[in-house]
Amino acid sequence: MIELTGKTAIITGASVGIGEATAEKFAELGCNLVLVARSFDKLEALKEKLGKKVDVLIFKCDVSDEEAVKDIVKKSVEHFGKIDILVNNAAIWRRWIPFAETESSMWKDYIDCNILGTMYFTHEVLQNMLENHYGRIINIGSVAGVYGNALQVDYSMTKGAIISFTKALAKEVTDKGILVNCVSPGSVSNKQDVPEASDLSFTGRTGTHTENANLIAFLASDEASYISGQNYQVDGCRKKM
Ligand SMILES: NC(=O)c1ccc[n+]([C@@H]2O[C@H](COP(=O)([O-])OP(=O)(O)OC[C@H]3O[C@@H](n4cnc5c(N)ncnc54)[C@H](O)[C@@H]3O)[C@@H](O)[C@H]2O)c1
Repeated sequence: MIELTGKTAIITGASVGIGEATAEKFAELGCNLVLVARSFDKLEALKEKLGKKVDVLIFKCDVSDEEAVKDIVKKSVEHFGKIDILVNNAAIWRRWIPFAETESSMWKDYIDCNILGTMYFTHEVLQNMLENHYGRIINIGSVAGVYGNALQVDYSMTKGAIISFTKALAKEVTDKGILVNCVSPGSVSNKQDVPEASDLSFTGRTGTHTENANLIAFLASDEASYISGQNYQVDGCRKKM
């Protein structure tokens, strides 16, 4: 049985979507939480709800701000004593433009948030995980990072980077008790638990936030103790690539 009792997790981009569903799932499983996002109001509402079950810290932060990330990890370790799990979920992705019409400032926003944000949090949390000889790092990729999405060339590139970052880092730290994996969603419904019709997968529907959170929770748990360096697609058997 999956359980996370007594563990502490940092989840970025936790205010909505897959991040929020992951926070809810982790709280159900007894995991204390550090929730990070750009919208403090939404985080406060989530803390109100989940704080009845577990200890929850919330931080408004842009993950591309390295100093802010350092400060959050420092405060989290001071409060909880350790960080067991990091879910690098925050990303920007909702833009569809031919690459020829994009500008370098747009690519830089993607790189700063999706790649550097993940690297800053991982680098900072890793120090604590190395001291404890224990850790679970789950990066959120995308099928765009595996197959490449037209009109999302810059986004696809960042998610490809997240997948290779996962595989390379796992080779450095798995023997130190830190397991690193990637979860790559396909199309996901905008409604938390209600799939929508989709011709992009052989299931004929989108996935849900909770279906992604279920795999993230499994990889975060001790049930997944022999899994590291992998990328798992939650895409209902992707049809169009
Ligand atoms: N929803 C999908 O269809 C889909 C498909 C494939 C991959 N993904 C990936 O799943 C993850 C979650 O996507 P979603 O659709 O659930 O989220 P979303 O786009 O609805 O929300 C993103 C979250 O990230 C946070 N965020 C964005 N930029 C940030 C920044 N600079 N600093 C701090 N927080 C920031 C937002 O506050 C929010 O909490 C992302 O990594 C995304 O790339 C989503």
